[in-house]
Amino acid sequence: MATFDKDKLKKIPTAGLFSFIKLYRLFHTNPLEGFQRLTEKYGEFFKVELLGQEMFIVNNPEYIQYILKDNYVNYQRAHSLELFAELMGKGLFSAEHELWVKMKKTLSPAFHQKQIESNFSTILEESLDYISKNIEPSNDDVIINMELEIKRLTLKISAKLFLSPQLEINTDPIIDALNDIFESADVPSHIRHKVKMAVSRRLPISIRKKKHVAEALEYLNGLAQQIVEEFFNERSEKSFFLQLLFDAYKANEIDVDQAIDEIKTLFFAGFETIAAGITWTLYSIDKEPGLRKQLEAEIDRVMPDGILTVEKLNEFKLLYQTIKESLRLYPPAWSFHRIAMNEDVIDGYYIPKNAWIMISPYTMHRNEKYWKNPKKFDITRFENEENSIPVRYDYIPFSQGPRISIGSRLALFEMSIIIPLIIQKYRVQFRTKKPPVFLSTAVIHSKNLILNHITRRKK
Ligand code: HEM
Repeated sequence: MATFDKDKLKKIPTAGLFSFIKLYRLFHTNPLEGFQRLTEKYGEFFKVELLGQEMFIVNNPEYIQYILKDNYVNYQRAHSLELFAELMGKGLFSAEHELWVKMKKTLSPAFHQKQIESNFSTILEESLDYISKNIEPSNDDVIINMELEIKRLTLKISAKLFLSPQLEINTDPIIDALNDIFESADVPSHIRHKVKMAVSRRLPISIRKKKHVAEALEYLNGLAQQIVEEFFNERSEKSFFLQLLFDAYKANEIDVDQAIDEIKTLFFAGFETIAAGITWTLYSIDKEPGLRKQLEAEIDRVMPDGILTVEKLNEFKLLYQTIKESLRLYPPAWSFHRIAMNEDVIDGYYIPKNAWIMISPYTMHRNEKYWKNPKKFDITRFENEENSIPVRYDYIPFSQGPRISIGSRLALFEMSIIIPLIIQKYRVQFRTKKPPVFLSTAVIHSKNLILNHITRRKK
């Protein structure tokens, strides 16, 4: 194995405790802006050092490509955030090596374009039903929590697509359990946890999980177990996804625990991210009145009779540009993490074995070197592109490389159905005047409850 002469390598800029103390208030009040400020100060590749814990932060597309694609084998996700690993066990998100290859092969058919398109009517019907019952305003002064409503809708859709077409899932306990987990799995809590772990190794003290997080994990575990037992043992109609898992189980390729972990992975990855994508796209549209009018015109042109079909989705153009620009400014998965399996050198910088590396779509997408006027919402950035997510490393809402989100196409598909159904009929006004303040929880989430005024659109 190659060894490196560290003295001959470039010194990586380091943000120490002092920078954190200086930015403490900002990290406390607006953590994502705290990371943004650090990035602006320390550049494209730097290290944060806190009480013996190190985190490398990368904001350079070439280095990101190296980590996510060219040498991805050396940079594993597995145990970068322990709580996620605990939630998802050895499901696709946390799996590595042969297990990851096997599970990716097993589950991929559920995410092929044709299979995704076959879900069109389920997504459409579920959305139309939910919107008419829960979003349709009874009068002109209705205020709702749109973020929560969209989460409930996307979870209902996920349950139909991935568990059973007949399943009417009780959404709120799952949403609450995930909130508890996500809030404890943010990056600052993770750093605190690592520091506590380092201390506990020196002193014989035990670090216990917070009670509500332990209960949330137990609840999701129990639910996933119940689902697998019910659908594997009975003849109830299974989704295509569940059938893939069941076939692999029958062929002795996976055990029941693997199936349970895949269901928990789905709860973790498969609906809240889409809900955040929809919520912040609706927010962006509300804040850009000119764009809202253009979009309404596009939607009226594509669906003059108010009916959406799978073929008509290809006729949207501004809609996809708007979604992509919103995923740039408000990437639902605002950061992701890797651990270096072996020491390495990236462009002359030394990376020690076990280095913890953070890649943040939020800060990458706001880097002035790669994005002109990055804080401006400007859909023309994507005007010459196809209606799909481009392969580039300065735009990574779904990550890139072999471990790219398996759900990226489905997410874009679902967003491109739900958003026009809402915009076509309603005006969604966000009551917040100031720009949103995001917490550093796993999925981007505004600090203040966002309430929305819903009115019927006047044509
Ligand atoms: C707007 C919606 C979504 C966003 C922004 C998103 C984002 C991401 C990102 C950034 C990653 C990579 C994380 C990393 O490298 O550590 C990822 C991985 C993953 N996502 Fe998504 N995702 C979305 C929707 C979905 C959906 C709908 C599903 C499933 C139904 C899904 C399932 C997964 C899985 C299983 C992985 C791990 C894939 C692997 O390692 O092979 N995601 N997602």
